[in-house]
Amino acid sequence: MSLFSGKNESLVAIDISSTGVKLVELAYARSGYELKAMAIVPLPRDAIVENTVIDSMAVSQALLDALEEAKVATRKAAISVSGNAVIIKAVTMPMTTEFELETQIEFEADQHVPYDIDDVYLDFQILGADEHDLEQMEVVLVACKREVVDDYQLVLSEAGLEAKCVDCAVFALENAAEMLGLINNDAALESFDEEDSQAVGLVNIGANLMNINILKNGQMAFVRDQFYGGQNLTEEIQKEHGLGYQAAEEMKKDSFHDVSPEAIERFYVGLTSELVRSLDFYAANHAEYPVQKLYLTGGSALVPEIAVELEQRLGIETEVVNPFGKIKVNTKKFDQEYLDRVGPMMMVPIGLALRSFDT
Ligand SMILES: Nc1ncnc2c1ncn2[C@@H]1O[C@H](COP(=O)(O)OP(=O)(O)OP(=O)(O)O)[C@@H](O)[C@H]1O
Ligand SMILES: [Mg+2]
Repeated sequence: MSLFSGKNESLVAIDISSTGVKLVELAYARSGYELKAMAIVPLPRDAIVENTVIDSMAVSQALLDALEEAKVATRKAAISVSGNAVIIKAVTMPMTTEFELETQIEFEADQHVPYDIDDVYLDFQILGADEHDLEQMEVVLVACKREVVDDYQLVLSEAGLEAKCVDCAVFALENAAEMLGLINNDAALESFDEEDSQAVGLVNIGANLMNINILKNGQMAFVRDQFYGGQNLTEEIQKEHGLGYQAAEEMKKDSFHDVSPEAIERFYVGLTSELVRSLDFYAANHAEYPVQKLYLTGGSALVPEIAVELEQRLGIETEVVNPFGKIKVNTKKFDQEYLDRVGPMMMVPIGLALRSFDT
C-alpha cells in the first residue's frame, strides 16, 4: 500500500538562519501536500553572522532540539544558502546539451564568478533558447562558497544529519511560490503575447537578509540577496526608545502599537530604498514588463500593515503570503492558528521541503 509517493527520497528541510533553525517535512498525497513535521528553534544572537557559523555548538544543539521537537524519522536534509556566499548569474551562451555544458561549466563560471573556481561548488540550470537568437541559450549559473557549505555540513553532521540537497533561498522561495500557484512556469511557453505577460516579485524579508526573486512569465529574471531586514527595525526601536536588543525585539513583536512612528518610518525609508534599487535594476533590463505584484514572506512580513505600507510607497500591489493556506494540516497534531500566524516565516523551508518531490 502506498498512499504517499515513495519514489523520491524523503528529505527534511532545514533552514539555518541568523535568528534560528527552521525545520519542515512534507508528505505528498493525491490531494496535495501535507505537513508532516515542523519546528522553529531560536538561536542565540551571533551564533550565525552573515551566513557564517560562529557558534557551531549552539547551532548543532538547536538542530538536535528541532529534530526532537518535530520527531523526524529521516536524517537526510535539504538545506539553503544565501547572502554573499552565493553568486547567481543568468548568462547567454551558445546552444549546447546539458551533458556538454557539464564539461564546460568550470570554464563558463570562471568568467562570471568573482571567486576562485576551486573555492566554490557549481551548479547550473538551462532555462531554454534565447528569445531573440535560437542559436543561443539562457543558463542560470550558481556558485556557492565551499567553506560555507562545508561549515553547514559540519554542524549538520554533529546533529546526525546529512545534507543531500543544497539549494539557494531565492530558488526555494520560487519553488514554494509555484506550489502555491503564485507563478506559472508554463506561462513562458504559452504566452509570447505581451498582453498576457506578467512580472511578479517574491520578497522574503528575514532578520538581516532580504531574498528577492523577480519572475517574468514564471521565469527568473532577477535575483538578489540584500542585507536589510527586521533587524534594522529592531535597531531603530533600540535607538528611539533607549532599549536593549531583546527588549526592542519584544516590543516589535508583542506591542507594535507602542513603537514610535519615527522608528517605523526610518525602517520603511530604508526598506523602500533597498527594494527600489532591485526594482530599478530589474527594470533596466525589462522595462517592457513592469513588476505588477509583490508577494511578501519572511519573519518581517509579520510586521503589522507592512503590505499596505509597501504598496503605498512603491505603487505596486503587495500581499503577504501564508504558505499553509495550500498545505493540508492535521489539526490534532498542529495548531492551525499558530501555523497561520508564523506561516509567512516558513516560506523558504517549505520551498526547500518540496525538493523531496523533484522528479
Ligand atoms: N510578529 C512579528 N512582528 C514583527 N517582526 C517579527 C515578528 N516575528 C518575527 N519577526 C521578525 O522577523 C525576523 C526573523 O525572520 P526570519 O525567521 O524570516 O529571519 P531569519 O531567516 O532568521 O533571518 P535571515 O534570513 O536574515 O538570516 C526577525 O527580525 C524578527 O524580529
Ligand atoms: Mg532566512
